[in-house]
Amino acid sequence: MYIVRNLVDFFNKPIIIELMAKFIIQGGKPLSGEIKVAGSKNAALKIFPVALLTKETIRISNAPEIEDVSRARETLIALGGEVKKINSPAGGGVFDIKLKSNKYIDLPSELVNKFRASIMFVGPMLATRGEASFPHPGGCVIGAGSRPIDMFLDGFKKMGAKVEIIRYGSGQVYRLTAKKLKSAEIFFPKITVTGTESLMMTACLAEGETILKNCAMEPEITALADFLNSIGAKIEGAGAPTIKIKGVNKLKGGEYKIIPDRIDAGTFAILAAASNSGEVLIKNCNPGHLEALWSLFDKIGINYVLEKNNIKIMPVKKFFACDIMTHEYPGFVTDLQSPYTVLMTQARGSSLIHETIYDRRLIFADILTQMGANITMCDPHRAVVTGPTKLYGRKLISPDLRAGAALIIAALIANGKTEIDNIYQIDRGYEKLDERLRNLGADIKRID
Ligand code: EPZ
Repeated sequence: MYIVRNLVDFFNKPIIIELMAKFIIQGGKPLSGEIKVAGSKNAALKIFPVALLTKETIRISNAPEIEDVSRARETLIALGGEVKKINSPAGGGVFDIKLKSNKYIDLPSELVNKFRASIMFVGPMLATRGEASFPHPGGCVIGAGSRPIDMFLDGFKKMGAKVEIIRYGSGQVYRLTAKKLKSAEIFFPKITVTGTESLMMTACLAEGETILKNCAMEPEITALADFLNSIGAKIEGAGAPTIKIKGVNKLKGGEYKIIPDRIDAGTFAILAAASNSGEVLIKNCNPGHLEALWSLFDKIGINYVLEKNNIKIMPVKKFFACDIMTHEYPGFVTDLQSPYTVLMTQARGSSLIHETIYDRRLIFADILTQMGANITMCDPHRAVVTGPTKLYGRKLISPDLRAGAALIIAALIANGKTEIDNIYQIDRGYEKLDERLRNLGADIKRID
């Protein structure tokens, strides 16, 4: 119960953890073979809101079969959309999504509480319905409080929306109204991925030219802009700090093949390096989206080969510690910080892990320490890992999506048995993770 108390202490309030399915992992098995990367969660979640911006059908392919995509589908349906699953022999989810009714203006709180990307529906609702009410979005507890949305609200205000906060009992909802959105010049004081995506897609139907400055440059943003332009939008500059969007009267329908999930690919590359027990081929990915990871692998001495859509990781005698500092794309992505921290427990020497984006994403290091890792927390943003150390299996609770994946890596290389609870958090972002790991020889069972 130590871990739970620790989380309760940290959050300083009773936390109700949905103790649903769990993983039982027997560590120490050699891992080798092939693993197929799924479509990008963080690209897929932004396409469902686009269905609110057009009256025509959008066909999405290569969607990952993960919980967050199910929540995004449910949210679209709750807002008057229709989602038809199309059977596809090629694998990967294929859906036809289409708007049927424009009348709903309330985002369902039970869905908004489950994933951060629910906020992506707000801009399109303002652009086409003139109104949106919603509670604070949920998702991974990795940021201050419950991850601020001030840059969204400021951006919508600049485009002419009125923002009210309606408090009731112990809760509150945001109520946004806008007669007609107009173009604006918006500077993001902090680089925000969903903020950039949300205002970029919303501006497509706003009169005049909107200019977004200090934008995020993640590959998912470029992919979203390319898709929006393919259905009639006029967006320039995505993938660079300044994006210009010329408003148009309407958007058409179209097709969107979701790009490979770079975090899925990076997680498996780090797993293969940490296990260091066999050759692993990671297929259907885009190694070009992970250059920061490869430059680190060069420094620490991991043996890997990059092909057009594949990554091959081979075992080495030993590998070394190297400091990291997370940074917006193309720097080292914060979503791979937790898996990399586990890798550093097996590296020779000491490494400084500096998490610059979120102030609670290192909380899981405490759980790693309970498994035998030698980690000193310097402050909420910095930890020093010294390796190599043996890890030992134990009962754990997954605090969030990427920490959950990191704990699975730790369990796979640890001595003995590990039980990981609250794996809904992992199923949110990794498609059939236990099935794919078993294909590599892992001893992992799902207990529903
Ligand atoms: C996206 O989250 C991703 N999620 C995250 O992936 C990823 O970690 C993050 O970008 C950074 O790369 C999705 O795309 C669904 P931000 P997002 O806005 O957009 C602060 C995963 O594991 N901020 O770029 O919510 C924020 O608190 C998830 O797949 C404000 O202060 O992140 C953070 O410190 C986790 N005000 C920083 O900006 C705002 O209005 C960057 O956050 C918005 C953000």
